[in-house]
Amino acid sequence: MSLLELDGVKVHFPIKKGVLFDRTVGHVYAVDGISLKVEAGQTYGLVGESGCGKTTLGRSVLRLVDITEGSVVLDGTDLAKLPGEEMRRFRRRLQMVFQDPLGSLNPRQNIESILSEGMVAHGIGKDQEERREKIKSILDKVGLPSNALARYPHEFSGGQRQRIGIARALVLEPDVIICDEPVSALDVSVQAQVINLLEELQEELGLTYLVIAHDLAVVRHISDVIGVMYLGSLVEEAPSDALYAEPKHPYTKALMSAVPVPDPEVEDQRERILLVGDLPSPANPPSGCRFHTRCPWAQAERCSTERPELRDVGGGHRVACHFAEEIAAGTLKLTAGEVVSATREGVEDAPPTLPEQAERAEAAVAEAEEAEEAEKAVKAEKADTVEAADAPEKADTAEEKAAEPLEAGKAAEPEPRKAVTTEKDATTEKDAKDAKDAKDAEAEKAAEAGKAEKADEAV
Ligand SMILES: Nc1ncnc2c1ncn2[C@@H]1O[C@H](COP(=O)(O)OP(=O)(O)O)[C@@H](O)[C@H]1O
Ligand code: SF4
Ligand SMILES: [Mg+2]
Repeated sequence: MSLLELDGVKVHFPIKKGVLFDRTVGHVYAVDGISLKVEAGQTYGLVGESGCGKTTLGRSVLRLVDITEGSVVLDGTDLAKLPGEEMRRFRRRLQMVFQDPLGSLNPRQNIESILSEGMVAHGIGKDQEERREKIKSILDKVGLPSNALARYPHEFSGGQRQRIGIARALVLEPDVIICDEPVSALDVSVQAQVINLLEELQEELGLTYLVIAHDLAVVRHISDVIGVMYLGSLVEEAPSDALYAEPKHPYTKALMSAVPVPDPEVEDQRERILLVGDLPSPANPPSGCRFHTRCPWAQAERCSTERPELRDVGGGHRVACHFAEEIAAGTLKLTAGEVVSATREGVEDAPPTLPEQAERAEAAVAEAEEAEEAEKAVKAEKADTVEAADAPEKADTAEEKAAEPLEAGKAAEPEPRKAVTTEKDATTEKDAKDAKDAKDAEAEKAAEAGKAEKADEAV
């Protein structure tokens, strides 16, 4: 038996209307029949667009929302049926790390008080002295100094606050930690640090995670198994490597096709599946396959009338699509949407993913710096022609560099390899900081505008 098992979990929120008498006029089908298993010591990554029901599912496991139907079994006990007091005791074994680290920490309590609260409620530690020692050792594990105890949340950076959130979960020695978008509110540069910390803690303490994210790149390395959610249901589930090697559901294929590949040769050949339409409302989900209104392979009749079950298609891969095999074999024709080259201009109309934004911003900074250097070199050459004659090679490169950003199409392509060298090349501390500041500003711009042009314009 797995440590955590969800079977047919549904969470339907009633939509009420009326002034005197609350009438239920419909339901938001936030979670609509999810079954999954999280093995002890492993990480289950749950991904899907914003609004597809991920947070509601996480909250339902902790019984922070009422479960309409289904069971949540932790270590053999069905939590959905536990009476209040027993559930309260069980809650220690299930902890949550929230998306917004500042919003989830009481600004008026110092760190010791925040971390002690749960310990006192669950009777951990015989006195405050013992609790303080335990808190100190956990703070050390999450990379915070022990003088953090007397400080307040606002005195810490976003990444440090999330470390406090993780420490708050750890002091209660939980069996499972549910991390809901644990890095979404953090700077791109800090995200990897927090993900790495979660991984290290898992190895050291044998933790079990359910990691929720809207970004496939976030769950990729940390997850053993990944489940892809769409409108309240799982559409695909597979071991992480298998899912990335061969996504089988059209929705997963589309999500995956939006993630850039670090290898420039593969990246040049990457195709991007463009979906039509927006995410439908969970209050009025489409009939049949819920993805049929946006699926590029949707077939007449069956897809709009018959809801596909999540079924095993081999290799530990479960897919909710009537035509998974035909799509994998390439025998089913596209009926909607578009498959285009990822580097084609039209693709940039789609909102860039988080790693795309970061890469584009880095590439923009790298190119701008190169152009600046080249310009300086050209100026220097003009000022001192004798020296330039002595070093013809250098002058050539400088001219080539100056011309580079003007080449058609080149500036539009993210160049991750160049971006990596930017920080290495910044030898002094100030250079490094300037490069980082410029990069952060670019990342922010790119994120805000949601357009690739921004990054390109900066070049
Ligand atoms: N308490 C609630 N009452 C009514 N609707 C809710 C409630 N909580 C969430 N929802 C709705 O359920 C859907 C799923 O929300 P959520 O679980 O937050 O999605 P995600 O975390 O994937 O972004 C959304 O349409 C949201 O508006
Ligand atoms: S069942 Fe039909 S609509 Fe749904 S994902 Fe498969 S092909 Fe697309
Ligand atoms: Mg959410």
